This record gives sequence, C-alpha cells and structure tokens, in this order.
Amino acid sequence: MPPHARSRIESDLPGDQAAGKPAPQQPAWPDPGLLDEVQRELLNRPALVPAEESAHLADLMAAVARREAVALQGGDCAELFEDAAPSPVHRKLEQLYDLSATLREQLGMPVVTMGRMAGQYAKPRSSDWEHTPGGEVLAVYRGDAVNAAEADAAARVPDARRLLAAHDCAAATLKVIRESWQGRADGNRVFAAHELLLLPYELPQVRADPEPYASSLHFGWIGDRTREPDGAHVALAASVRNPVGVKVGPSTTAADLVRLARILNPERRPGRLTFIARMGADRIDPLLPPLVEAVSATGIPVAWISDPMHGNTTKTGRGRKTRSVQAILDELTAFVRILRAHGAWPGGLHLEMTPEPVTECVARSADARTAALNQYRSPCDPRLNAEQAADVVDAFVALLRAA
Ligand code: PEP
Ligand code: CO
Repeated sequence: MPPHARSRIESDLPGDQAAGKPAPQQPAWPDPGLLDEVQRELLNRPALVPAEESAHLADLMAAVARREAVALQGGDCAELFEDAAPSPVHRKLEQLYDLSATLREQLGMPVVTMGRMAGQYAKPRSSDWEHTPGGEVLAVYRGDAVNAAEADAAARVPDARRLLAAHDCAAATLKVIRESWQGRADGNRVFAAHELLLLPYELPQVRADPEPYASSLHFGWIGDRTREPDGAHVALAASVRNPVGVKVGPSTTAADLVRLARILNPERRPGRLTFIARMGADRIDPLLPPLVEAVSATGIPVAWISDPMHGNTTKTGRGRKTRSVQAILDELTAFVRILRAHGAWPGGLHLEMTPEPVTECVARSADARTAALNQYRSPCDPRLNAEQAADVVDAFVALLRAA
C-alpha cells in the first residue's frame, strides 16, 4: 500500500482534493506527532509567494502556449540548504539571466525564466536504498527537506523539522530573487519553480487568495514518478491556480496524458499547463509523436518543453551518475523536430545546471564510462556546468532558427 496524502489533521488543512489518494515518494517520517506540529506551523506562516506573482507567470507562460515566447527552467537537481545565501543565489541568478538574454536576443522573442530554486529541496528516488562504495546500505538521500546527504545512517533518518528549515531557506532565497527584479522589465524576471513532491510541505501552503494557489512557488511541476492521474500529486496540482508542469517520461501513455490535460487544465487556459518531455535520446523518436498528437487532438492548450537531462543518465565505471552533452543535444534535436512535424511549438528547455565549475556531465557519450569527474558536487543528478549549459542553449537557438 502506498502512503496516503495526509495523516491525522486532514480535516483542518486545505488542499482536500489530495486527501486519501495514493501518494508515492513520501518519506517514512518516524514521528507522526512532530509531522503534524510542523504542518500546523507551516499553515500559520505567511505565504512565500503572493498569488498575483504566480498569476503573472501564468500570463507569461500563455505566450509560450501561443508560440510567441520560449521558457527556460534551470538549476540544481537538488538545492542545498547551505546555498540559501546571497552569493550562491546571485551566481545562479546571473547564469539564468545570461542564458535568458541569449535566447531573447537570438530568437527575438520573450523568454519566461524560472529557476529550480527556493524550494527544490526534495527528491523522488528510484530506490529507497543506497549501496555505498564501502558496502554499507543506507536509506537514500531524499533532499535537504527530508534528510542529510552525509553517508551516515542517523543522518538519513527523515526529520520533519527539515520542512521548516526548507521554508526558511526558500524565504531567504526568494528575498534574493526579488532583489534581482529591481530595475528589470516585468517579463524579464526569474521566477521560482520546484517539484511539487512533499505533501506535508505543500498542502499547508495552499492558500485561498481568493482562489486556492500553492504559495510555496510560482510554478510547480509533478515528477515522472508521481504523475498518476488519480494520485495525490495530480490532485494537489489540480486544486491550485498556479501554472503547473508534468514530466513526461517513457512510460507515459497517450490515455494518461490526455487525462492529465483534462484534469489539470479543464478551463483550457493557455499557460496553465506545461508538459516537460524527458524521454531519452534513444527513445524519444518512437515515444513522443503519439503523445503530442493525442494532446493536440484534445484542443487543450499546453506548452511543450524539453528536459533533455533525465532520460539520459548513465553510470561511470565507478558508479557515478553522469550524462553526455552529446545525448542531451540529440534528444533536444529530436524534440524540436518532432514538435514541429506535428504542428506544435517546441517551447523551451528544462535543464539541470550550475554556474559552479563542476565536471558532472561529459561532452561525449563515448567518455561516459571512463570519465573521472573530478569536480563532482551534486548530491543527486549530474548538472551541466556554465559552458555546457551555454552550449545547450546555443544549440536550441540554432535548432529554432533553422526553420
Ligand atoms: C528532476 O527534475 O530532478 C526529476 C527527478 O525529474 P523526473 O521526475 O523527470 O525524473
Ligand atoms: Co534531477
């Protein structure tokens, strides 16, 4: 039995649509009483994001759905609490603003820019366990909002107080994000996006102003492991006004995607719903076309963007996760070609990237097994470094210009 969305204080928390539905990828919180207390505290904290900012982002995303703009989402796979400080946040913002400026100038159209920031503290995992090189078996790291990355059994026990720390870090990060808006035109802001994953974090932050919205973020997406149409995560996203996304991986059926479009965008608002394709370079060709066709046939407006990262993860001989820029570009190329061939708009990019000089992704697929990856800092998935991210953005520009 999967865990369900809520425990004992169901009756007085908002977001009731998610209650009682299957909720995969939730940590086994060891202290339900503490979890309840934390949820009550989150419920009483002020909203991180006002409703009008999120509504403004939905308007900007509508231009992507209308083919008049592109979207750029980028940032860490897993944000760290220790990075919720002005200088790391400034560096991430600078990278986003620079890449966004490149897209805007080269494509001559507006760019809607979102950081995987101010809340990207929780990770879905394919296994509950991690086998360390030393032969130990540890509960897997699920993001700073849940446990600590440190390879130690006690550090890996989920601690609900971390949800409050995540809220504090998100507030600190949003402060820096908002400062970066000063003197910029409205459409040129970086907005805050993260995966809508941890229900005890998100549900108490659903606020009515006047309609329910997720006050933890501007844009939220549902991951590939939690996009079950009858599940709690989809119910949560359906219950809020924010612009939302859904990751679309290789196991997605056309029937499920059509259901998701109907559930998540019943009012057919352009900008409300984004599908984020993450198929893998070797699978996108057969898998994506029937999905694009099925969604187009509904007439429900959606934006399609490419996450060329998550379907292209491999392991080095030493067991490190990596990705090759070559595979990433292959998937992106196929994405643009397929969307175009089906009369749809290849509306943008979702990247895991960092301004820090890391070596987590390799240039060529042939190097992926043997790469040493000396500068590896991500506690989760491998990120593009600044140069690699710029190359991917340049490639996207070239693909769109080659009309
Ligand atoms: C992610 O974006 O970090 C992620 C886990 O993606 P997906 O749900 O597509 O696997
Ligand atoms: Co990731």
